[in-house]
Amino acid sequence: MIKIFDKFLEGKGAVITGAASGFGRDIALKYAELGANLVLNDINEEGLEETTKMVKSKFGSEVLPIKADVSIGDEVNQMRKKAFSTFDNIFVLVNNAGGGVSSFKNILARTEEDWHKILDINLKSQWLMAKAFCRKMKPQKFEPISGKVINMASIAGVRPEAQTPVYSIAKAGIIALTKILAAQLAPKMTVNSIAPGYHITGLYNNSEQALKDAMEVQGIKTPLNRLGTVEDVSKVAVFLASPLSDFITAQNIVVDGGVITVGVAAHL
Ligand SMILES: NC(=O)c1ccc[n+]([C@@H]2O[C@H](COP(=O)([O-])OP(=O)(O)OC[C@H]3O[C@@H](n4cnc5c(N)ncnc54)[C@H](O)[C@@H]3O)[C@@H](O)[C@H]2O)c1
Repeated sequence: MIKIFDKFLEGKGAVITGAASGFGRDIALKYAELGANLVLNDINEEGLEETTKMVKSKFGSEVLPIKADVSIGDEVNQMRKKAFSTFDNIFVLVNNAGGGVSSFKNILARTEEDWHKILDINLKSQWLMAKAFCRKMKPQKFEPISGKVINMASIAGVRPEAQTPVYSIAKAGIIALTKILAAQLAPKMTVNSIAPGYHITGLYNNSEQALKDAMEVQGIKTPLNRLGTVEDVSKVAVFLASPLSDFITAQNIVVDGGVITVGVAAHL
């Protein structure tokens, strides 16, 4: 019988990209509480330092903060070198960094520059990270699973949004990348993605009102009748890093209060 509250990440390394804010920061705090040694990445140095301080002061964890742009292969490879020279294993890779959805423009109005930027930050980055880390994670000695990858997708990748077309394409790509990696890395590793809905994070300037406005413009109603929180997503990232999910791979777990599937109109 597995005790859910065991420190199941004790002695295990976890890499979390986009850890300066939002989901990444909360996942870092939860994994630290569960005993993980952390490699925390972001391009936002100030936010990264803040997360590092929070994690160290609350849990006394081992933390390696690395400022790097995950859409650039050389920076990702440097990160892998630093990670494996500091810790002797990386058990969980959370590919969470993303964004760049600020302007709402239809697909025919997008520039080539937009296309590259949004796909690089949101999709190429996750492929680069997997390429850099998984070859070293797969042969690790942990049983029955040697490592776990968790990719941050979005409901926009499941039900594409006309106003954020390139982001939707990138996130749909992540769901495909997850399945391809899962097939490649089985039976030793699990690879899954999480597709959040509408949650208060840096993506919405950490503002409840900004999130409500964005939802209103698109006519979004949430059947479970509240806004999404960072915890709604970080709890699923805990589950996917835990032994409770050892027989789950190649899945995309939608965490959206029912927005895209049930479609029942409800108040915010
Ligand atoms: N908030 C939501 O409602 C929502 C919904 C669906 C999906 N998501 C996804 O969740 C993930 C986390 O976003 P969040 O909502 O916590 O937003 P956030 O802005 O709070 O956090 C994203 C972090 O990623 C970092 N980042 C961006 N580009 C980077 C790069 N090239 N290299 C390294 N770090 C980079 C940012 O600096 C930031 O700290 C993203 O992939 C986002 O697309 C969020």
